[in-house]
Amino acid sequence: MNPTLKLSKRMHEHNLTNKVEYLNLVRRPSLLIYSLCFTIWLSFCFLFASNTLKSTFEHGDSDYPEQRNSLNQPGNGRPETEKCDLSKGRWTQDARGPLYTNFSCKTLPYQRNCFLHGRMDRDFLQWRWKPDECELPVFNPRSFLNIVKGKTMAFIGDSLARNHMNSLLCLLSEEETPHEVYREDEEGKTIIWHLPRNNFTIMVLWSPFLVSASEMAVNGTETGGFHLHLDKIDESWVQKLPALDYAILSATNWFFRPNYVYEGGHFLGCIYCSDPNVTHLGPDIVIQGAFRLALKSINDCNSCSRIVTLLRTFSPSQFENGTWNTGGTCKRTRPFAPEEINNGGLDLVYRNAQLAEIDNARKLGEEKGRAFDVIDVTEAMLMRPDGHPGLHWDNRWNKGLSDCLHWCLPGPVDTWNEFLLELLQRHSSFLLALEVMQQQKLKN
Ligand SMILES: *[C@@H]1O[C@H](CO)[C@@H](O)[C@H](O)[C@H]1NC(C)=O
Ligand SMILES: *[C@@H]1O[C@H](CO)[C@@H](O)[C@H](O)[C@H]1NC(C)=O
Ligand SMILES: *[C@@H]1O[C@H](CO)[C@@H](O)[C@H](O)[C@H]1NC(C)=O
Ligand SMILES: *[C@@H]1O[C@H](CO)[C@@H](O)[C@H](O)[C@H]1NC(C)=O
Ligand SMILES: *[C@@H]1O[C@H](CO)[C@@H](O)[C@H](O)[C@H]1NC(C)=O
Repeated sequence: MNPTLKLSKRMHEHNLTNKVEYLNLVRRPSLLIYSLCFTIWLSFCFLFASNTLKSTFEHGDSDYPEQRNSLNQPGNGRPETEKCDLSKGRWTQDARGPLYTNFSCKTLPYQRNCFLHGRMDRDFLQWRWKPDECELPVFNPRSFLNIVKGKTMAFIGDSLARNHMNSLLCLLSEEETPHEVYREDEEGKTIIWHLPRNNFTIMVLWSPFLVSASEMAVNGTETGGFHLHLDKIDESWVQKLPALDYAILSATNWFFRPNYVYEGGHFLGCIYCSDPNVTHLGPDIVIQGAFRLALKSINDCNSCSRIVTLLRTFSPSQFENGTWNTGGTCKRTRPFAPEEINNGGLDLVYRNAQLAEIDNARKLGEEKGRAFDVIDVTEAMLMRPDGHPGLHWDNRWNKGLSDCLHWCLPGPVDTWNEFLLELLQRHSSFLLALEVMQQQKLKN
């Protein structure tokens, strides 16, 4: 067994939910090269950075943008935002800081509570995402709850799907404290929360590949690699679809493991395995195949009456000066500018693989009353090497190992929910029209 897998195994024994995503770092050196160059550039920034933008105004309701009518027709009142590509932009300084703290958010997970684990710097909380062509409003929990009242939303994917959901729970807790109503197991692979006052149900469904997968064992020991079936969907999330109004699909990081891929009963090849005589597949091809089947399964769901599907794109890990298991760290304290991310390299290849199937799904979906859109965060997050826990997580069994994959709460990951709210507003008229149509069908 190679040392990487051995270590992964050890982490598994200690019940670490994020063991697996660490593995992918071993294989992705691209980030290191440009990261190093910018270390030098950044030292200059530190020397000359001024503190003039320090907090001059505080949080309060007055900071929230005007509450917008969520039932606006497209093009009616907010045409500019409606078309704006949220994914292209830059981080700009904003002294307001986050909407919640590790005191105010009662559901903040221990592992993402970076300040509890000794993170000292706070400047990384004072940046806002500014899309090139429009403004992205500050998250407004009231507006969000007005849209999702009585509805059910699921985050489907791996531990980053959970990271996203936990950010949303913290943002909403300013309006209503979520109650946990179901937890599948100790690691919390499937968890359901409810906000009774707004009758909003929110869940995370564990499916790191979206398709059917079983862990490979050699001589009775799990190897960390999986058998993936590109023609068999993971039924565990698909069977929940009929109950959902919103499905937020993610998953990417587990594809970077040594996985064996099958389709139509045939072995296609492997990703990053060490076997000399098998076909080696790029993760992007397999990711695209998995998303193709996932989107098709949503379109094929006959008992789904209404559903808005949002694909949250790849969230890159950002280890520097090493990989996850060779002392790689993430100690930056400010974002990159767009010019510094060097076109994103392979990270954007993986994101493009996810997006490759969405147009097709959208066309098919239109006829069936399904809407598809993307929460395209990859470029924005490539600029946030400062947003990870680094050494500030519960790494007592992995002394010295940094977490440069997940995101601190509060932190830049909260922006994903500003994207989400914006997209919900864009699609709310769609859902409303569907409801009206269904009521008419019932009457006839
Ligand atoms: C919040 O973070 C501070 C450090 O900034 C820490 O002292 C405190 O214990 C944390 N509180 C909670 C409830 O996690
Ligand atoms: C809450 O929402 C669910 C659908 O998510 C619905 O079936 C139920 O009737 C609602 N309950 C109340 C009290 O409105
Ligand atoms: C599995 O066990 C057999 C018998 O003990 C051994 O010969 C073989 O090398 C083992 N395979 C691996 C991959 O460890
Ligand atoms: C690879 O080739 C060797 C020797 O030809 C053979 O014994 C082995 O079964 C092959 N492995 C796979 C996975 O096809
Ligand atoms: C990488 O290592 C070098 C040499 O030890 C150090 O000067 C530099 O600050 C490190 N970079 C980061 C981002 O930790």
